[in-house]
Amino acid sequence: MLIAIVIVAALFGMLFGFDQGVISGALPFIKQDFTVTAFMEGVITSAVPLGAVAGTLLAMVTTDRYGRKPMLILGAVIFLVGSLISAFAFNQYVLTLARLLIGVGIGASAMTAPMFLAEVAPARIRGTIVSAFQLMITIGIMISYMSDAAFGGSGDWRWMIGVGVFPSIIALVGILLSPETPRWLTLNSNADKARDIIVKLQPESSDAEVDQIIAEIKESAKDEEAAPAWSTFLKKGILPVTSFAMIVFVLQQLSGINAIIYYAPEIFKNAGFSGTTTDLLATVGIGVVNVALTVVAMYLVESMGRRKLLIMGFFGTAASMALVTVATMMDIAATPYLAMIGIFAFIAFFAVSLGPLPWLYMSELFPLRLRPRGMALASIANWFFNFIVALLFPELLAGIGIVGTFAIFTGFCVIGIFYAIAVAPETKGVTLEEIEQRTVAAD
Ligand code: BGC
Repeated sequence: MLIAIVIVAALFGMLFGFDQGVISGALPFIKQDFTVTAFMEGVITSAVPLGAVAGTLLAMVTTDRYGRKPMLILGAVIFLVGSLISAFAFNQYVLTLARLLIGVGIGASAMTAPMFLAEVAPARIRGTIVSAFQLMITIGIMISYMSDAAFGGSGDWRWMIGVGVFPSIIALVGILLSPETPRWLTLNSNADKARDIIVKLQPESSDAEVDQIIAEIKESAKDEEAAPAWSTFLKKGILPVTSFAMIVFVLQQLSGINAIIYYAPEIFKNAGFSGTTTDLLATVGIGVVNVALTVVAMYLVESMGRRKLLIMGFFGTAASMALVTVATMMDIAATPYLAMIGIFAFIAFFAVSLGPLPWLYMSELFPLRLRPRGMALASIANWFFNFIVALLFPELLAGIGIVGTFAIFTGFCVIGIFYAIAVAPETKGVTLEEIEQRTVAAD
C-alpha cells in the first residue's frame, strides 16, 4: 500500500514538471496560430509561476484545516481542467487563464505532496522518499519535452499540452483511493482511523510500535499548536534562516534556469541553430541531463555536503553562462555549438546542486514549529522570481539580445558564488534537532 501511495504522490511532482516544461516546445507553434507579441509570450509562460504563488498561499491556509488529501484531489482536478482548457483554447487569453489555473494546482501540490509523502513515509526512508519528489519534477519536464518533440513534426501544440490530461486522470483516481495521512487524522481527533491506516502502511509494525507512532505525533503536535506569528521570522535568531532560505531560491531563479526550461528551443534558434526539430531534440537532451544529474545530486548531497556542493554549483553555472555569453558575442561558425555546450553544462551544474539544494535547505533549516510557514515563505520567493524571469525573458531577448541577457544571468551566478561562500551552512549528517538547537542558541 505504501508503494502505491508514494507513486501517487510522486505523480504530482511529475505533473508539476510536465506543466512547467511543456510550454517550451509549444510556444513556437502557438505563435504561429495566434499573433503573440514578445510581452504576451512572457505573459502566457509566466502565468504558471504566478498562479503557483496563489496556489502556495491556498495550500498554506487550507491543508491544516481540511486535510492533505482534499487539497491533492483539488490539485488533480485543477490540473485536469487546466490541461483541457489549454488544449482547446481558442485564443491567447483563454490559454493564459488556463495556465494561471494550472499554476494554482502546481503551487498547491508542490506544498502538499511533499508534506503528504513525509507524513505517510516511515521515518527511516523519509529522506529518500521526499527527495524523490524533486526527481519526479525533472522526469515530468523530460516527458513534456518528449511530448513536444513527438508532436513537433505536425506542429500540433494542442496535443503537446493535451497529453497532460492522462497523468492528471491517473493522479486523480490514485489520490481518491489513497487514505488521509495518519498525522493529520491524529491531529484532528481521529486517532482510531489513523491507527488503521498506520497498520496498513506498515504491516510489519507491532501494536506497541503503532501506539508509539501515535504518541509521537501527539507529542510533536504540542509544539505546533499555535501557528507562529509572521513577525517570528524576523527575530534575531530566525532572520538569518528566513533570509537564507529565501535568497538561495531567488539566486536559483536569477541564475536563468527557467529561461532555459521554458524557452530552450527559442534560445537555440537565437544562438544560430535552424530547424525546429533540431531544437526540440536538443531540448529533450536537456531534459535527460537534468534527470540524470539530479540522481547524482541525491548521492552528492550526502558525500560532499551541502555547502561545498552549492559553492561548486554557482562556480559551474557562472562559467557555463559566461561561455554562452562569450560564444554568442563572437558570432562565429562555432557559436551555436559553443552555446549548446554552455547550456548543457549549465543544466548539469544546476541539476547537481542549485536545483535540489534550496529545497533541501528549506526543509532542514526551519525549527519544526516554524517549518510550514517558513517553507511557504521560501516557496513564494521561488515562484515569484520564477514568474519575473519567465515574464521578462522574451522582452529582454527582443530588447538587449541574447548576449546581454546571458551576461545578466552570469552576473547573478557570480553573486551566488560570493553569497554561498559567505553564508551557506553545512547541514550534512546533522540531525534536524541539532540544527534547531543551533538556531535557538543564536536567538
Ligand atoms: C526549480 C524550478 C526548475 C527546476 C528544474 C527546481 O529546483 O525550483 O524552478 O524549473 O528545478 O529542474
